Amino acid sequence: MPYQIAPLFCRPWTLLGIERKLIESHYEHNYGGAFTRLNAISQELAALDPATTPAHVIRRLKQDEAAALNSLALHELYFASLGGDGRVIPELMADALARDFGSVDRWRSEFVALANSLDTGSGWVLLTWLPRAGRLINQSVCEGSQAIAGGITVLALDMYEHAYHLDFGPNTVSYVATFMRNIDWNAVQGRYEDAVAVKPPRPLEQKQFADLPAITVDEVKAMLDSGTPVQIIDTRPRHTSSRSHDMMEAAVWRDPDRVEEWMSELSKTEPVVAFCVYGFHVGCIAVRALRKAGFDARYMAGGHFAWKAIKGPVKLFESTTPS
Ligand SMILES: [Fe+2]
Repeated sequence: MPYQIAPLFCRPWTLLGIERKLIESHYEHNYGGAFTRLNAISQELAALDPATTPAHVIRRLKQDEAAALNSLALHELYFASLGGDGRVIPELMADALARDFGSVDRWRSEFVALANSLDTGSGWVLLTWLPRAGRLINQSVCEGSQAIAGGITVLALDMYEHAYHLDFGPNTVSYVATFMRNIDWNAVQGRYEDAVAVKPPRPLEQKQFADLPAITVDEVKAMLDSGTPVQIIDTRPRHTSSRSHDMMEAAVWRDPDRVEEWMSELSKTEPVVAFCVYGFHVGCIAVRALRKAGFDARYMAGGHFAWKAIKGPVKLFESTTPS
């Protein structure tokens, strides 16, 4: 068996307002069913020849495999989310919720509102750590939606009908309130501590320009929006820029092959931002020359296209040259 079944994490007899029978049935039939399906699908996939199997068969099997894997993992997280008193949130976890949602109450009201929005008897509500963004987020996963790629879930609420109907009938509001009163926050915090130890995806590294300071397009936009003085130079190569129809609105274009000639028109008391098409070489070389000459220059990471990607203001391309 490639996948293992996990023991029930919570102790059903300790839960308040949730009958043991409901947890037992949920674990045996729904979690166990996902486990059985997953192993059957895995065997089917291992036995087929991908080169000769019809495309729709592979597509369906892989979709079913992903659904069963998600069901297995999320049920384990759901059972592991229960068993506490729901009230006392350890300091580290409370601070994290306050940091990312404004306050613990704000987090709670968003999580509960999201759960109550899934009153159609299907879906999950998750509290998930995003290493990429370095923050927690509430998300729902239901028909047609997916868990966020790279996210690490620390708290899971099962909103499928089988999770509550036996005890609560159609009263999902009461079920959600009961779940909140049974959260095991110490266990959630343990998972949070593991999650924050996961590094975010590796950023783009330009080893040959590691000595040069970069600035993001968002930071440049914030400088412009706040009226901070900044000299912005579009140093896209002439052959590239002459084919382009637009350029950053706040920039002037200067030929990167003639940096030594035009740098004298710049002020040394205001920061300089230079960029090229994608932010790789040309802008960096211009920035290196400017810094060597004593300018407070940085290159704009991602260049012209990153500026366009954030919908930064642009104007028609002007190939003005210094007078
Ligand atoms: Fe379930």
